[in-house]
This record gives sequence, C-alpha cells and structure tokens, in this order.
Amino acid sequence: MKIYLVTGGAGFIGSHLVENLIQKHQVIVVDNFDDFYDYSIKLKNLQAATGVSAEIKGDKWEDIECFAQKDIPNFKLYTANIVDRDSIFKIFENHHIDAVIHLAALAGVRPSIQQPLRYEEVNVKGSLNIFEALKNFKVKKLLFASSSSVYGNNAKTPFAESDPVDFSISPYAATKKSGEILAHVYHHLHEIDMLLLRFFTVYGPRQRPDLAIHKFTNLIENGEQIPFYGDGSTARDYTYIDDIIQGILKALDYIEKNENVYETLNLGENQVVKLSEMLASIEATLGKKALLNHLPMQPGDVNLTNADIRKAKKLIGYAPTTDFSTGIQKFVDWYRKNNIFFKP
Ligand SMILES: NC(=O)c1ccc[n+]([C@@H]2O[C@H](COP(=O)([O-])OP(=O)(O)OC[C@H]3O[C@@H](n4cnc5c(N)ncnc54)[C@H](O)[C@@H]3O)[C@@H](O)[C@H]2O)c1
Repeated sequence: MKIYLVTGGAGFIGSHLVENLIQKHQVIVVDNFDDFYDYSIKLKNLQAATGVSAEIKGDKWEDIECFAQKDIPNFKLYTANIVDRDSIFKIFENHHIDAVIHLAALAGVRPSIQQPLRYEEVNVKGSLNIFEALKNFKVKKLLFASSSSVYGNNAKTPFAESDPVDFSISPYAATKKSGEILAHVYHHLHEIDMLLLRFFTVYGPRQRPDLAIHKFTNLIENGEQIPFYGDGSTARDYTYIDDIIQGILKALDYIEKNENVYETLNLGENQVVKLSEMLASIEATLGKKALLNHLPMQPGDVNLTNADIRKAKKLIGYAPTTDFSTGIQKFVDWYRKNNIFFKP
C-alpha cells in the first residue's frame, strides 16, 4: 500500500482519481473547497469517491473547514490552501508520502482574464509551495496537471509536446506554463521525478459546472438561452474522464518504476469535435433543442485543441477508448440521475 497525496482531490478530476486510488492505497486529499464553483458540489464529489461524507464548519468559503464525518483508515482530508506554506508543510510532516498528484489550481480560462493575480497566486505560488514541500520532505515523485491551453493558437496540428509553447493567450495558460518551468527547476536541482500531464478538455460525470458540456446541458434542460460564442467552428479534443484517470494511473506507475524522469505528455483523445457538433450531440442525447444567444468569440479562447498522443502511448501505454457520443451519453445519464444542479 502506497501513500499518495492528491491536491485538489475534491474537484472533478481529483475526486475520480481518489475514488480509484483509495481501492488499494492510502490517500491524502488537500483541498480548500475554493469558491470557483459551489463547494457543496465538491463535498458531493468526495462523498461519491470515498463513501465518507464531510461536515462543513464556517460560513464564508475562506473560513470553511471540512471534516470527514467518520474516519476510514486509508483516507485523510485536509482543508488547506496550497498558498499557505506552513499548512502544506505540516501535512508533509504528518505523512510519509510516496508521490504527489498535484491537481489543485484555479482552472478556467475566461475568469483568469478578470483575476490574473489570483490565478498567479494559486497556480504559480501554490505550486511552488508544493514543489518546496517535495524538496524539504524528500518526496521524489510528482505528477503535475498542466493543460492543452499552453499551446495557445498553435498553428500546427495535432499539438505535439515538442511544439513551442511560448505564446500563451490567457493568464491561466501562462500560469500553467510557469508551473511547468518551475517543475523543471525542481527536477534539475533536487532530482524529483516528474511527469507534466497536459490534459485536453476533460468531460464526464462530475464535470465542473463552468465547462461548456455541463453548462449547455444545464441550460437546455432548464429551457434557458445558451451564450454561444463564435460561429460554432471552434473545436476541442474532448477527453473522457475515465481515459484521463487511466492516463494518470499509467503515469504514476511509470514514475514509480523509473528514475531521472522529466517528461511532458499530452493526455487527449486525438478526436476533434466542433462546438456546433458538441451542441448537436447534447441536444440529441437530451432529446431537446437549445435556444442560442449568438455572441462574438471570447478573448483568451483558443480556436482549436488537438492532441498528438503518440508520445504518451509509447512512454506510458496511454490508450484512450471513449468516443464522444458514448461519453456524452454517460455524462447525461449522470446529470439526470443527480439532478441536484437543476435550477428550481
Ligand atoms: N477539466 C479540464 O478540462 C482540465 C483541462 C486541463 C487542465 N486541467 C487541470 O486539471 C486540474 C483539475 O481540474 P478540474 O477540472 O478537476 O478542476 P476543479 O476546479 O474541479 O478541481 C480543482 C480543485 O482544486 C481545489 N483548489 C483550488 N484552489 C486551491 C487552493 N488554493 N488550495 C487547495 N485546493 C485548491 C478546488 O477547490 C478544486 O476542488 C487543474 O489543475 C486544471 O487546471 C483541467
């Protein structure tokens, strides 16, 4: 049994990872239940992942603390902010951690344009605190959640890890790129093995409510207008959550079995879906038509993401299997079963 620390473990991707790891290992979750979206959703994520419900103390999200209502031997929840170095160091003092999967971040491109300093604080300074903790407590294995957004409007497709990523078009993308650069410093100076995983638009059950598939589904179900940016020709390489979790687990296995690792890997599906096709697929699955409010393209949004996944296939045996229509059906099934996010 290994001891894994998952930062951001109450979030969308984190809770799925925790659900998987907890079957065989000890899992420590660090999450501050940040108000980027409703913290009650994150509590439900954790409950679904661990079977342990949590209790909230405090009113304002900055003051809340979550306590697991019963202790199970292989799960520990810390309500801590990765920006707070002392709290993070105490957690590393308390546990002999084998590897860290660092997912905690402010995600989302558009809000980063309004709040660049907040994004910089959490995604760069917070990541630096995590890297410092690895260094100080001699933890030698790290997976870092990066993003396809580092490619900006890369003209060459599909996007390969060797492509230049010097032309970010949002503060969010720049913070992820900064995290990658800092990660290399800690690999070089402190011999920490690292895989930097560039996720390509992840979807599926528990998807963040701000992301388009979830947002569109919610608005269509409620008969409300969808803000539809651009002419529908922008396209994304949507990656189903089970495929991402499979990629993370294979990456974990790889860094545990190998020394002197520093690699960047694309985790995508290598299938591109246009915005208009994504909408049509949700409409068909829900059996309802969307009402559209046509708006211009948003600054900061990229036109296309498309992952070249040959390196991840070769290095870690990554093999995504979920086609888009199957993934959408699974998302809608989950959404309808958990209609907790419906507006009254
Ligand atoms: N979902 C995607 O499509 C996608 C794509 C590319 C990259 N990523 C990256 O993957 C990671 C997980 O994304 P997600 O979609 O699950 O997002 P999420 O918002 O659901 O999860 C992030 C978690 O981090 C926590 N968190 C935020 N700030 C924190 C802080 N200061 N201290 C402690 N915890 C904090 C949040 O409360 C949340 O539970 C992020 O790093 C994100 O940038 C996600």
